[in-house]
Amino acid sequence: MCGIVGYTGPREAGPILIEGLRRLEYRGYDSAGIALVSEAGDLFVEKKAGKLANLQTAIADRTPSAAIGLAHTRWATHGRPNDLNAHPHQDCTGAITVIHNGIIENFRELRDGLEARGHTLTSETDTEAIAHLVEEAYAGDLADAVRAALRQCEGAYAIAVMHRGETDRLVGARQNVPLVVGLGDGEAFLASDVAAILAHTRRVLFLEEGDVVDLRPWGATITNVEGAPRERAETLVDWSPEAAEKGGYDHFMLKEIHEQPDALRQSLAGRVSTSGRIHAPEVAALTEAFRRVTRVELVACGTASYAALVGAAAIQDWTGLPARVTVGSEFRYSPPPLDENTLVIAVTQSGETADTIAPTRWAREQGCPIVAVTNTVGSAITREANAVMFLQAGPEIAVAASKTFVTQVTTLIVLAAAIAKARGSLGLEQELELGQALRALPEAAARALELAKDVPAMAERYLGARGFMFIGRGYTLPGALEGALKLKEVSYIHAEGYAAGELKHGPISLLDLECPLVAVATRSRVYDKLISNVMEGRARDARVIAVATEGDQGIGRIADDVVWVPETHEALSPVLAVIPLQLFAYYTAVARGNDVDQPRNLAKSVTVE
Ligand code: G6P
Repeated sequence: MCGIVGYTGPREAGPILIEGLRRLEYRGYDSAGIALVSEAGDLFVEKKAGKLANLQTAIADRTPSAAIGLAHTRWATHGRPNDLNAHPHQDCTGAITVIHNGIIENFRELRDGLEARGHTLTSETDTEAIAHLVEEAYAGDLADAVRAALRQCEGAYAIAVMHRGETDRLVGARQNVPLVVGLGDGEAFLASDVAAILAHTRRVLFLEEGDVVDLRPWGATITNVEGAPRERAETLVDWSPEAAEKGGYDHFMLKEIHEQPDALRQSLAGRVSTSGRIHAPEVAALTEAFRRVTRVELVACGTASYAALVGAAAIQDWTGLPARVTVGSEFRYSPPPLDENTLVIAVTQSGETADTIAPTRWAREQGCPIVAVTNTVGSAITREANAVMFLQAGPEIAVAASKTFVTQVTTLIVLAAAIAKARGSLGLEQELELGQALRALPEAAARALELAKDVPAMAERYLGARGFMFIGRGYTLPGALEGALKLKEVSYIHAEGYAAGELKHGPISLLDLECPLVAVATRSRVYDKLISNVMEGRARDARVIAVATEGDQGIGRIADDVVWVPETHEALSPVLAVIPLQLFAYYTAVARGNDVDQPRNLAKSVTVE
């Protein structure tokens, strides 16, 4: 996730853009860059690795006067966070400047084609390819050239483009990544979100998928990539700057829960083709190790350990290899047998959790091949691993994880598929079925959010509960465990996550009117078994909340409250099931007046053992 901002108008562009970047820094701060064009068409570019302050120091006292400009704050996904890969990027002639948020999935082909046609690309980025495609298509009209370039691009993007010879014109485009237009009095703005421009205008056009905007100081013309006109209504935004950083939501947690469809889209970009083939180029170098290993050990803490359970189940199902999860704090001092035939997968959002790093380092010293699954480029865990798969979920600010849980699950599923493919144990039909389910997942997550509209009222109804028992079986168990953890973390109400079949072996004694049962009862191979366990709880007067698959006719008869989620591949079901449970935890915590984004006693990243 990166932040982009652009300005065209009569005022000095430099300070407006730097102030905009400051508002967008929450989106990432691996590098920052700015490009300015003077009235005479002179281009000034500066970019610096690290926080915005580095860029500010670099341009202090030498920011040229400019009427138009673009600026970018980067959150690295692919390509190291250095000066070279920092945005903006230019074409061969230096006339065209581009900034970009997202991933161009076919960038390798595009770059190869451009190089074969004589272009010189100076960075490792996908973004630079766009600048050169615009250069090829440019015949005096920047918007036409951008549309022609985008017709060759696949993936997710928000871009802003300017041409040195057209000093009052910005062109922007959006595909699955946010971009807004701000309309001022004789000036105009482009930005990743309204936080960046709220100090200057409240008149906003929210672009939609496939929109291309041709922006001048006096107004905006919107088309699709083919050039057909589109209309977008102007919105008057009345958020405070602080609320704007949270996208208009009251808390980062709620914003991040709602960002999950986009986070999934970004995370899956480049990993599943349109036909459903699954790719994990980051682990290609480990193909031989994947064939050789005889066991898989996953290590993680907290939320990441529940995502790891889904990964372990999928690896075991699809390869036949024994695969298990051990929490980091146990793994290090009571380690499983480790050798070069044990694949170790470390799962950590921050990449800095000491309890996860220490056992991973230990495993590396024993000769294990290691894959890290993390959200954070340059984090400590990446130095312990032979290969790294990044979540590409964007920064997560709320302490309680949401979008990083769902993207950990999908990234581990992609990894599990890659291991199984390397071993020849995942048939093409199985791969395509999974691939298609992954492709449908962002939309399904958006639908799960819509279907959860009654969750706030439901949370109110259960506010008096003494505690909650969350249950699941097979693939639905990790969702139950994560749902219970969310509730504990933010509401401070005791909640236990349990294997449904184990309920009768002890914890069933906790159930009564004051201790409801939350059943993750999405469709699965063990659905009927789980329902029997729910009936056992119901017989003890427990009220039942069920998370169930749309179309499940029978569940209404045994649950007091049902929250629906769309149908998906069984291995992906925790991604959707967790969404209403995250919301349930959130609204319960809000009703209790808790500090949702920074719950007591917790830290986002725990760097001590
Ligand atoms: C802390 C956080 C948890 C998180 C855990 C693991 O305890 O409060 O929300 O799940 O660390 O974090 P990691 O960054 O390794 O995924």
